[in-house]
Amino acid sequence: MNPPTGHAVPPTFDVHLHDDWRMRALVDEVRSGLTSAPKQLTPRWLYDDRGSELFDQITRLPEYYPTEAEREILLARAGEIARRTGADTLVELGSGTSDKTRALLDAFEATGRLRRFVPFDVSEQTLRYAASVLADRHPGLHVHGVVGDFHEHLGDVPNDGVPVLAFLGSTIGNFYPSERARFFDEVADWMTDEAWFLLGVDLVKPVDRLMAAYNDAAGITARFTINLLDVLNGELAADFDPSGFEHVGLWDPIHTRVDLRLRSLRDQHVSIIGADLEVEFGDGEELKVEISTKFTREQIAGELDDAGIAVEQFWTDSGGDVAVLLARRAG
Ligand code: SAH
Ligand code: AVI
Repeated sequence: MNPPTGHAVPPTFDVHLHDDWRMRALVDEVRSGLTSAPKQLTPRWLYDDRGSELFDQITRLPEYYPTEAEREILLARAGEIARRTGADTLVELGSGTSDKTRALLDAFEATGRLRRFVPFDVSEQTLRYAASVLADRHPGLHVHGVVGDFHEHLGDVPNDGVPVLAFLGSTIGNFYPSERARFFDEVADWMTDEAWFLLGVDLVKPVDRLMAAYNDAAGITARFTINLLDVLNGELAADFDPSGFEHVGLWDPIHTRVDLRLRSLRDQHVSIIGADLEVEFGDGEELKVEISTKFTREQIAGELDDAGIAVEQFWTDSGGDVAVLLARRAG
């Protein structure tokens, strides 16, 4: 029986990332990434509870334009997106706090069709908190959280009915080109003829604005990247000295991306007991922790087209900083 209107339906969850899976993935990645040249790890490890909290602080920094610019687009276009798609399910990958998503949920609910919201994130605590807040805020909506990795578990996300798959905040910019191509292929496989893809991307812009956004004056982005060392210390009993590294944000004009790294401030030796690994860092040696790619309209539409996904709408904010695309499987 359906619960009476006006009472929250308790959220349900699928958890794909159990502790043993997470630990195995982290150990594998640390063993290969910290013995390669250059040293490199994927950004998913940045988002432990502390990292998610620091990212939330980043979104409120005056220099970090993407969040407010995307919110402007969503507030202006949510009604149009809801009417055009007629969606009954909103799936959100890398949902985090789902803060901006409220504009979409309100507009989708106003059509009277929305019945399910599926936030999907690697960060379990943030996801559970966001799911319970949204279930309270939208009585009658079934909130079904998925704790998973979007490189691994997209196929497990429900695609029945009329779903919109939202991937906002330019998180796609954190994928390397080969990961992006594979991900777009997986999205195309996931999409039925009824499904829509709503993608947020950051656009190419003058380097000084990018450098300010990723090297903020308050040093929050530096805390966010350096927190990775605390994650490794906590999860793998490593002995990284966070004060022995500095945050570096560089512009890579060839790949049109910001490259975030941790630079060792001296020669140092690190033991990572949980990975049974001893690592040397030379003075000035860098560990690559994240990229943040900036796109042109042609580039992103071309990559989606290669995967068989056709862009139907392309909206930008008034400053032309970021874009939101609405797309379908090509016919
Ligand atoms: N969509 C939100 C949050 C973006 S931050 C916004 O627009 O502000 C990126 C989010 O992706 C974080 O919540 C992080 O926990 C999540 N994330 C990072 N890597 C992930 C992965 N491999 N699989 C699933 N979620 C991931
Ligand atoms: C989540 N992602 C889109 C952010 C970005 O802008 O690439 C992560 C981030 N890293 C440093 N600042 C923000």
